[in-house]
Amino acid sequence: MYHIPIMPYEISQVLISNPNGIFVDATFGGGGHSAYLLEKFKNIKIIAFDWDEDSFNNFSKNQNLFENRITFIRENFKNIRIALLARGISEVNGILADIGVSSKQFDDLKRGFSFNSDCLDMRMDNRNTLTAQEIINTYSQESLADIFYKYGQEYRSRQIAKAIIKRKARGIINTAQELRSIIVSVKRQEGKIDPATKVFQALRIVVNDELANLENLLDCAPTLLKSGGVFAIMSFHSLEDRLIKQNFKNNAKNGIYSLINRKVISPNIDEIKNNSRSASAKLRAVKRL
Ligand SMILES: C[S@@+](CC[C@H](N)C(=O)[O-])C[C@H]1O[C@@H](n2cnc3c(N)ncnc32)[C@H](O)[C@@H]1O
Repeated sequence: MYHIPIMPYEISQVLISNPNGIFVDATFGGGGHSAYLLEKFKNIKIIAFDWDEDSFNNFSKNQNLFENRITFIRENFKNIRIALLARGISEVNGILADIGVSSKQFDDLKRGFSFNSDCLDMRMDNRNTLTAQEIINTYSQESLADIFYKYGQEYRSRQIAKAIIKRKARGIINTAQELRSIIVSVKRQEGKIDPATKVFQALRIVVNDELANLENLLDCAPTLLKSGGVFAIMSFHSLEDRLIKQNFKNNAKNGIYSLINRKVISPNIDEIKNNSRSASAKLRAVKRL
């Protein structure tokens, strides 16, 4: 399975304000959310974005399932406005973003996202040039420590950066497995979370410029939504959720949005039992005034 879509029902309940509208799925992935929405609302159309070649290939393979009601754009969603304008679309009825890495990306050992990977890549879009391997092997000890602290909230950031520089004296660090073993040598396991989780999160955020892309999407959304249109966004860690919450709150204060949910919408117990990756999902939604 490419990716199990999280909270598809909850998303469909908040997102589809017009059953004949045009919607953007900013993070198509394996197309689980798009397929669910197209199946449930027979008259909507979807413009799907994803910058990953795998997602594009998966879309192409399954294109006939979507009955020509979906268009795929292989593009960073930070360029959503310009990409839509290039296709003659200036406004849409709703935008969905399911931010982060898909299960397919995570589980594929050739992508470098998981601890067992035999490479250290972490690019979601292979047209980009910066990889985790380059960061680990070329950035200074201080820069590495700052990245681990800022984007991973890793409290052992300085010790880990020091251990990486020391190990690098013996040769290039080429794999996620090697990186994890360096981290484990200076940080013990606490609870269920792997000691390398925070460093891997930090690297992934920097390689893919995730927070800047999200900020761009948040800035563009009000200019693209029709009045009454909904922006629904699901995130998986506090750095992203904080940006989303703040943006929605400010825009609500300025009369641009009304908040659909004051508290985040989270998966129910059954969904978490069936799909442990859904546990940290937080869904927020706003309506364009
Ligand atoms: C969590 S998955 C989405 C899964 C999808 N909702 C489904 O049901 O299969 C996130 C997807 O967003 C894509 N993505 C992340 N950041 C992106 C960006 N800045 N521009 C375009 N796609 C992005 C990733 O490549 C990944 O395929």
